[in-house]
Amino acid sequence: MSKGLFITFEGPDGSGKTTQIQELKKYLKKNGYDAIITREPGGTPIGEKIRKIILDKENQEMDSITEALLYAASRAQHVSQLIRPALNKGYTVICDRFMDSSIAYQGYGRKLGDSVRIINEIAVGDCLPDVTFLLKIDPHIGKSRIKMENLDRLELEAMEYHNEVYKGYMELVKKDPERIICIDAGGSIEDIKTEICSHMEKLLRKQITE
Ligand code: TYD
Repeated sequence: MSKGLFITFEGPDGSGKTTQIQELKKYLKKNGYDAIITREPGGTPIGEKIRKIILDKENQEMDSITEALLYAASRAQHVSQLIRPALNKGYTVICDRFMDSSIAYQGYGRKLGDSVRIINEIAVGDCLPDVTFLLKIDPHIGKSRIKMENLDRLELEAMEYHNEVYKGYMELVKKDPERIICIDAGGSIEDIKTEICSHMEKLLRKQITE
């Protein structure tokens, strides 16, 4: 049995990833692919416990390195318990955020730089996404789409931090344009969906012919 495709979604907070992930799952189903949707931080019972600690608004004193290590710990468990076994069984896995989030939010946002990549290489090993959809939205607009009372610890960070995260994402696209597909998330849900599905179609066709 061939290995499943590993698809990740990335983008600033409020970029509409969740809606598009559901749409992509429907599209894949229509084309005969069973997809498992999962998310980070979280995705496993241990990961969900770590998620609560990371996003808790009361944990204001959390050190940036602690934060980066907790995201990576959640990811290591996710890869070993869920993502890798599912891909090996031939399932398509769609993950809401993955390693690029840590590079953008902790590497650029918290200014931890390359150490974040090193920590994450240990966490994920060779389990890297085949394709990443980066939903590009101005961080001001993204933040304004989330209700104030629903903002988590990271989302409550100052605008300056979110601008750094955005810059980080743009750098990632420059470095890896083959894998990371940048989609303008300012358009309608329908337009964004059409663009993602058209990229997916090309990718599936390529996979069949290889
Ligand atoms: P979540 O509620 O999943 O946000 P969203 O729905 O916008 O994806 O919360 C995840 C938050 O954690 C989000 O602000 C991004 C941040 N994050 C990191 O800082 N580093 C990471 O590695 C990951 C996966 C998320």
